[in-house]
Amino acid sequence: MFKWKDDFSVNIESIDDQHKELFKIGNYLYEIVSIKDGIDRYDEILEALHKLRDYAVYHFTFEEKMMEDNGYPKFQQHKRQHDSFISKVKSIDEEEIDERQKKIGMDLIIFVANWIENHILKTDMEYKEFLNDKGIY
Ligand SMILES: [Fe+2]
Ligand SMILES: [Fe+2]
Repeated sequence: MFKWKDDFSVNIESIDDQHKELFKIGNYLYEIVSIKDGIDRYDEILEALHKLRDYAVYHFTFEEKMMEDNGYPKFQQHKRQHDSFISKVKSIDEEEIDERQKKIGMDLIIFVANWIENHILKTDMEYKEFLNDKGIY
């Protein structure tokens, strides 16, 4: 589901590592939602979801500081994308996951996967040259 490829690299080691970690948590979430043994995994799904949310907050804060410290001109619009992702993840109705675990779980994974992929490939990629030019790798 979440597969790292070189196209995702922003040529900044710390950021690439954090993006890989986001993929790893995403994959774990995908795995538990995909198990078809009929066992209720509500607690595990929520735990993975919270882990993903918390790690995303950590990563976004790190990335925003790097952009802001270096006077990146598109900082505000980039931050707005981060903020809307976090509020979307926070707004997930946890009781709904309980009732319709699989369906909601899958929709969620697809949303998260698409968002992360698009955001890295488009929005994060926009700072690559700017920050690399400032000597950040
Ligand atoms: Fe970003
Ligand atoms: Fe990022």
